[in-house]
Amino acid sequence: MSLTERIARLEEELANAEARTADEVERFRVAMLGRNGAVTELFEAFKSVAAEEKRALGQRMNQLKQRAQGRWEELKAKVGGEQESDGLRIDTSAPALTEPIGSLHPITIVRQRIVDVFARIGFTVSQGPEVEDDHHNFSALNFPPDHPARDMQDTFFVQGPGGMALRTHTSSVQVRVMEGQKPPIRTISPGRVYRNEAISARAHCMFHQVEALYVDKGVSFAELKGTLDYFAKSMFGPEVSIRLRPSYFPFTEPSAEVDMSCTICGGPGCNVCKHSGWVEIMGCGMVDPAVLSNCGINPEEFSGFALGMGVERIAQLVYRVPDLRLYWENDVRFLDQFAAAASRS
Ligand code: DAH
Repeated sequence: MSLTERIARLEEELANAEARTADEVERFRVAMLGRNGAVTELFEAFKSVAAEEKRALGQRMNQLKQRAQGRWEELKAKVGGEQESDGLRIDTSAPALTEPIGSLHPITIVRQRIVDVFARIGFTVSQGPEVEDDHHNFSALNFPPDHPARDMQDTFFVQGPGGMALRTHTSSVQVRVMEGQKPPIRTISPGRVYRNEAISARAHCMFHQVEALYVDKGVSFAELKGTLDYFAKSMFGPEVSIRLRPSYFPFTEPSAEVDMSCTICGGPGCNVCKHSGWVEIMGCGMVDPAVLSNCGINPEEFSGFALGMGVERIAQLVYRVPDLRLYWENDVRFLDQFAAAASRS
């Protein structure tokens, strides 16, 4: 093949050369302009042609080399440009995308509100273990050895030595606080508790309680009543009222059950209050002197009150969701509804 023909063929090859990736661009450069590339080889061949032919073809040879270099630059720009524009497809002026934010669980919202209400009158939060010993859950709280709450049917016992069990109430934290602190004590203990109950719309084997304890010199039943009234009005509004019914708990004397005027019907009676106009919200009483002594506090010097409520019960009244099971199923369609409520409170 004559030099003229080789030049013509290369010119055509250059015109048709394509590359889609940086690798292909590099392959093109090596094939054309590399040490053994077609253009380089052509220049080698050019060295040995006659002077006359050199003059005739010199300019075309130079053009060919320039074209090869030009094409290489073009391909480089094209492939590089595409890669760059891939990266630049982000619109930096667009508003930021926000991740959807989850909502607090309704039980968490209500627990926090209860804690806030008590924090405003000087109660601090105390916590205790969920796996508890008999002393803190029962004995120190004055439960007689044969009390039915200790029964296998109510309590989940933990296997192994020591008679450990899942705490059946947060009253166990009262004992721990009194054992570790000198009065004045003003504390609130939110937490999870466990009872061996069949799951239904009205009961669950795992639920939440908040316990409050106030021990000081001269704490009276009137202060307990005032605190209960303050709590009910702070939680449910100034129009609610409370009433106390005598009751029995081993760790308080006297003991009472607290009813609140029904927040659903406001008094005349409805399904929720079983047409009585009142709903039960918690248990309470004056700390039994025996409990104070069991915990190393002199009952001659100090007195106290305690109260305990179920968080699910309060949540039912706040949100008017009667079926307890909904609070545990974690159906996002249910939980989502509390996001707005949380930001309002
Ligand atoms: N521990 C009781 C329960 O689980 C609730 C309770 C009642 C707590 C009266 C108290 C109280 O502190 O004084 O049913």
